[in-house]
Amino acid sequence: MTDNVTTTQTGTPVASDAHSLTAGADGATVLHDRYLVEKLAQFSRERIPERIVHAKGGGAFGELVVTEDVSQYTRAALFQPGTRTRLLQRFSSVAGEQGSPDTWRDVRGWSLKFYTSEGNYDIVGNNTPVFFIRDGIKFPDFIHSQKRLPGSGLRDADMQWDFWTLSPESAHQVTYLMGDRGIPRSWRTMSGYGSHTFQWINAEGDRFWIKYHFKPRQGTAEMDESEAERLAGADADYFRRDLYEAIGRGDFPSWDVNVQVMPYEDAKTYRFNPFDVTKIWPHADYPLIRVGTYTLDKNPENFFAQIEQAAFSPANTVPGIDISPDKMLMARVFSYPDAQRYRVGTNYAEIPVNAPIAGVRSYSQDGLGRHGFKPASAPVYAPNSFGGPVGDPAAAGNGGWESDGELLRSAATLRAADDDFGQAGALYRKVFSSEARGRMIDTLIRQGRQIRVDGIRERFVQYWTNVDADLGASVAAKL
Ligand code: HEM
Repeated sequence: MTDNVTTTQTGTPVASDAHSLTAGADGATVLHDRYLVEKLAQFSRERIPERIVHAKGGGAFGELVVTEDVSQYTRAALFQPGTRTRLLQRFSSVAGEQGSPDTWRDVRGWSLKFYTSEGNYDIVGNNTPVFFIRDGIKFPDFIHSQKRLPGSGLRDADMQWDFWTLSPESAHQVTYLMGDRGIPRSWRTMSGYGSHTFQWINAEGDRFWIKYHFKPRQGTAEMDESEAERLAGADADYFRRDLYEAIGRGDFPSWDVNVQVMPYEDAKTYRFNPFDVTKIWPHADYPLIRVGTYTLDKNPENFFAQIEQAAFSPANTVPGIDISPDKMLMARVFSYPDAQRYRVGTNYAEIPVNAPIAGVRSYSQDGLGRHGFKPASAPVYAPNSFGGPVGDPAAAGNGGWESDGELLRSAATLRAADDDFGQAGALYRKVFSSEARGRMIDTLIRQGRQIRVDGIRERFVQYWTNVDADLGASVAAKL
């Protein structure tokens, strides 16, 4: 037997992939054809649930190189000068299902998994620095409004705009979405953000609030709506293909990693709530500080095993990095591992693409699909007298803000400059060029014309008037 003979999943050679075992040459198939049964059974179990959001995407492996010294802000090993860390990145759209066109207008997901010497560190952000809502309890409703009607299974402008116009905190993100950034030229030409405020902690225990910014060294570029619509039909996988082919020909995309750093105490008195994910921090207040560069240099070898089963989570932090008292982020650190236990399985973290290079020493064990095992002599409980692993207080994930009453009270309060429309208006007036503003008005007219319910159309005009009076007037006049 050569080593090129088909086998069953248990390694036994099989006779044929063309003919089932039959009663007589052309007779009925027999139930004891174990290979036929196995092949059909495996086939009907090929699909796992798609991600509840961000179902359509693609990704690649790469490396982060830290070129600067930010050790005064964080002791995290991956951000120390000169450190190189392998990583996985996945890009995605949000609302579309698996197989939906890459070029539909949408926010794009920006997931990074760093395989650090202190365990996996994930940043799960977007190509926009803000988000639609500021409380996780709204997330399922928000997503339902962007997906499909229960009866017809169709997407629906009425429910999208109903939710947005009833949720004024969405205005900043929706302004990004209806602007040019709603349809990037490619994943390679997008900027990325961690979006939330996170905490960095240095070796002395000093704490800082930070935001991540990733800038493409290829430059940013967007696509006009007519080309996006054409590609949605001609090549639904346009972005996935673009990334795969670029890496395949050695044209490796790279991004500069920057952070904004806010001193810990500033958060208590800053003019708006710095933990509100619907807000950016103006660069005039907190300029970008360079950290290093990462480059995507390796395509997946198996899309399902390495991209579909990848499990990113804001809960995956490392010593020197923590979450912040942002309500959305707190909801997310629960939600992602919960989703992944269901979507990929209890032991999703053992799958090679999710497994840390730093190793796992834990008293958790067993469960469906477990394949790593403890030696028979390993203690299975803590505390124990047999030299099993013990916790290290120095590794405490939390940055200590949980017991800072003043900080928590300040984080729970919206402040004078915490209006919902101010930053959206500034984005429209000061950041968008006049051509970009014109394109946004055209986009809004197309969107507004799809709204059938009068009350929602009225709120649509009011929403954009609140962002900018002239914008609202232009939209009203053309609608
Ligand atoms: C409380 C609000 C949110 C909840 C409950 C939530 C929940 C989820 C869930 C359950 C998944 C699927 C995870 C999986 O199956 O692997 C997901 C994926 C994702 N979410 Fe969120 N999300 C929230 C807010 C956000 C925000 C604010 C961002 C960006 C700033 C974001 C970015 C992403 C990305 C990029 C993915 C795709 C991850 C991947 O590439 O596998 N989400 N979200």
